[in-house]
Amino acid sequence: MSKHSPNELLETAAKARHNAHSKYSKFAVGSALLTEDGSVFLGCNVENASYGLTICAERVALTSAIAAGHKSFQAIAIVADKSAAPCGACRQVLAEFCQDDFPVYVASAKDSASFETHLMEKLLPARFHFTP
Ligand code: THU
Repeated sequence: MSKHSPNELLETAAKARHNAHSKYSKFAVGSALLTEDGSVFLGCNVENASYGLTICAERVALTSAIAAGHKSFQAIAIVADKSAAPCGACRQVLAEFCQDDFPVYVASAKDSASFETHLMEKLLPARFHFTP
């Protein structure tokens, strides 16, 4: 795994946040997912008038990357109005592709230079695995 800059990834997530469609919650979230080979995929939350159809920023970035043929990832950065760790659904979806030592960087939009790092193993201990 190559070295990466959490701050650079957070800056990219902060830019993606500006594309959020968050007219219902007014809580804009941006994400930037770094693939194993160094590409970056963006995500933002996409809300819907039927609230339950909302898609979180993390899953938008991840599904875009998968659709483009990527399966291995180095890190994800998430920037929101307030620093927020991924929701439970996003943790499970990330866990499908990301190992226990995968870092999740979170920061607030007001100060995306100062951030916290959460590892997958902490975010979703004893996660569900299924091998068909
Ligand atoms: N949201 C995300 O984009 N990611 C998360 O991990 C938590 C929540 C979004 C969903 C919704 O549009 C808004 O934040 C408020 O819940």
